Amino acid sequence: MITVVGSINMDLAVEMEIFPKQGETVQGTLFKTIPGGKGANQAVAAARLGSRVRFIGAVGNDSFGKELYENLIKEKVDVSGIAMTENSTGIANILLHNRDNRIIVIPGANYDVSKEMIDENIHHITGSKLVMMQLEIPVETVEHVLSICRKQNIPVLLNPAPAKNFKKDWMQEITYLTPNETECERIFGADWESVLKEYPKKVIVTLGSAGAAFHDGNNIVRIPGHQTNAVDTTGAGDAFNGAFAHAICSGKSIDEAVRFANVAASLSVEKFGAQGGMPTLDEVMSRLGGKER
Ligand code: RIB
Ligand code: NA
Repeated sequence: MITVVGSINMDLAVEMEIFPKQGETVQGTLFKTIPGGKGANQAVAAARLGSRVRFIGAVGNDSFGKELYENLIKEKVDVSGIAMTENSTGIANILLHNRDNRIIVIPGANYDVSKEMIDENIHHITGSKLVMMQLEIPVETVEHVLSICRKQNIPVLLNPAPAKNFKKDWMQEITYLTPNETECERIFGADWESVLKEYPKKVIVTLGSAGAAFHDGNNIVRIPGHQTNAVDTTGAGDAFNGAFAHAICSGKSIDEAVRFANVAASLSVEKFGAQGGMPTLDEVMSRLGGKER
């Protein structure tokens, strides 16, 4: 069982041909509400691949909250650790322009994921094969989960996004850290290659369409990405993390897990929306060429 402690948002995606200047009004070309939030996206990514996934998080007692809760049930994620709180459900305002995205997140109920909530759900955490987190919930809560996992010897995958909430002294308590290039440089203040050398088999840096890299104890291993026709890259990192978690929990090596996750991420960008494109195991296997089930 993978337990995700993380965020749940409704993504309000707006696509436009002209990006408005200050004070300007433009007409967009598309508006969609799509389930999102890094936590929920990663949970759905792992669940679609066949992992058993449980979620600890919070939504508001409003229509988005109910829709997102129902959506996770539909995706076969165990929602027994999700609370409905007084705050509004988290949202992300996503501006899509020229295949690029800019995201404004209003955390809302995600900031109600407290240490107390973790303690109420402690039985969920202690029975896990892996705990997966991001940084869209309060830092104290992340810290609390890390210390529980260390005491219980439970592996933790931390995707440090947004990076500004990361603390370097967590490194000892983390099994896998998956920053992208920018996050990596921001956190460690060094180029990613030296960071990988410092944390072999622990830091996996994602490089967008160029794939991902890690250090195997001897060398830096670069695993190239897959050429693809990108429609929307929102949530590609989440696809990578969910798939990496699935592969590690299925007994794969880091190398194999990164190859698998690269494929999942490349498939995810071919469809609109963060959760829209999370692939199934069959889709990943057929692109991998059936080599590494
Ligand atoms: O990683 C993409 C996600 O970041 C979006 O779904 C949005 O909700 C933000 O949390
Ligand atoms: Na997508």
